[in-house]
Amino acid sequence: MPGRWRALIPPGALRLPLRDIRFWLVQAVVVGIAALHLAVDLLSAEPDAIPAGIPVALLLAPVSYAALQYGLAGSVATAIWATLLWLPDLLLPHDQGHIGNDVIELTLVIAVAVFVGYHIDAERRARADVRRLTGQLLQVQEEERRRIAQELHDESLQLLAHLARSLDRMETSPSAPASLADGLGEARSQALDIAGRLRAVVAGLRPPALEQLGLTTALRGFLADAAETSALCTEMHVTGKEKRLPPEVELAAFRIAQEAVNNVIRHADARKLSVALAFEAAGLRLCVADDGCGFDPARLTRPSPSRGLGMLGMRERAEIVGGRLTIRSAPGQGTAVEATFKPVSTPSG
Ligand SMILES: Nc1ncnc2c1ncn2[C@@H]1O[C@H](COP(=O)(O)OP(=O)(O)OP(=O)(O)O)[C@@H](O)[C@H]1O
Ligand SMILES: [Mg+2]
Repeated sequence: MPGRWRALIPPGALRLPLRDIRFWLVQAVVVGIAALHLAVDLLSAEPDAIPAGIPVALLLAPVSYAALQYGLAGSVATAIWATLLWLPDLLLPHDQGHIGNDVIELTLVIAVAVFVGYHIDAERRARADVRRLTGQLLQVQEEERRRIAQELHDESLQLLAHLARSLDRMETSPSAPASLADGLGEARSQALDIAGRLRAVVAGLRPPALEQLGLTTALRGFLADAAETSALCTEMHVTGKEKRLPPEVELAAFRIAQEAVNNVIRHADARKLSVALAFEAAGLRLCVADDGCGFDPARLTRPSPSRGLGMLGMRERAEIVGGRLTIRSAPGQGTAVEATFKPVSTPSG
C-alpha cells in the first residue's frame, strides 16, 4: 500500500522551494489575507462585514500562483499554511456561525491546490519526457551521421582516390593511345571533383575540426565553404577569450550555426552573412545574421504541413544543453538567429 502511494507521488514533488524569495512572498500574501480577514472580523460589529466567501476566494490567487510556479508541493504547502492561519478566525465567538462555510471553502482551496498542482507537475513531467526523448533522438541522429561519414570516408572516398590514381597511370602510360589521353584526363578530374564534393558532405555530417580544433576553427572552415559555394559575402567576429566548451555545447552551437547559415543560403536572398561568436562571462553567445528578405517569425508557430523542422531543431538543440534560442526577423529586414549558452566549465583533458 505505501508503495502504491509512493508511485502516485513523483520524485521531487514534495520538495519545497524554501530558498526562493518569491515563495516566501506568496506566504506573506497569505498572511496578509488572513490578517485582514481576522482584523475585519474582530473590529466590525457586523458579523457579515465582508461578503461570505470573498476572503477565502482571495486565497485562490496565491495558491494558484504557487501551483503554477512550484507545482504540487508549493500549492499544497500554501493551502495548508492558509488553513492554519484561518484557525484563530474560526475560533472567534461571534464567527461560530460561519465555521461551516469557512471550512467548506478552505477544503475547496485545498482541493484546488491539489488539483492544479498535480496537473502542473504532470505537465512538467511530460515536457521533461519530450525533451529527454528529443535529446536521445538528436544523439541517435549524430551517431548515424558519424557512421555514414565514416563509411563515406573509408569506402567511397578511398575508391575514388584509387580510381583517380588508376586513370592517372593510364593517362601517363607510354602505351596509352594518344586519342584516349584527353578522355582519361577528363575522367580523372571528374573523379577528383566527385571526391571533393563527397569530402564536403563528410565534413558537414561530421565536422572533424570541431572535435580536434574547437568551435571557432570549425565554424570558420564551414563559413569559408559556404562562401565558396554561394554568392554570399561572409564575415566572422569572435570576441572574448576563446576556450573549449563541453563537446555537447560545441556540437549544439555548431549545428545551430550550420542550420542558420543553410537557411540564409536557401531562403534569405541575402548579400551579407555574419556570424558572431562571443565568449562572455554570462556564457557563450552565437549570432547568425543576414541582410536578406526576412520573414515573420510568428509564422513558425502556426501549424502547417509544409513547415520545416530546422528552426524547431535549433531551439531543441539549444534548450537540451541549457541554452536559449531567439529569432529576430521581419519581412524586408533581414534575420538574426541568436543562441545563448550559460557559462560552462572547460572540459577536463
Ligand atoms: N534567414 C532567413 N531568411 C528568410 N527566411 C528564413 C530564414 N530562415 C528561415 N526562414 C523562413 O523560415 C522557414 C522555416 O525555416 P526552417 O529552417 O524551420 O525550415 P526549412 O528551412 O524550410 O526546412 P528544413 O530546415 O526542415 O529543411 C523557412 O521556410 C523560411 O521561410
Ligand atoms: Mg532550414
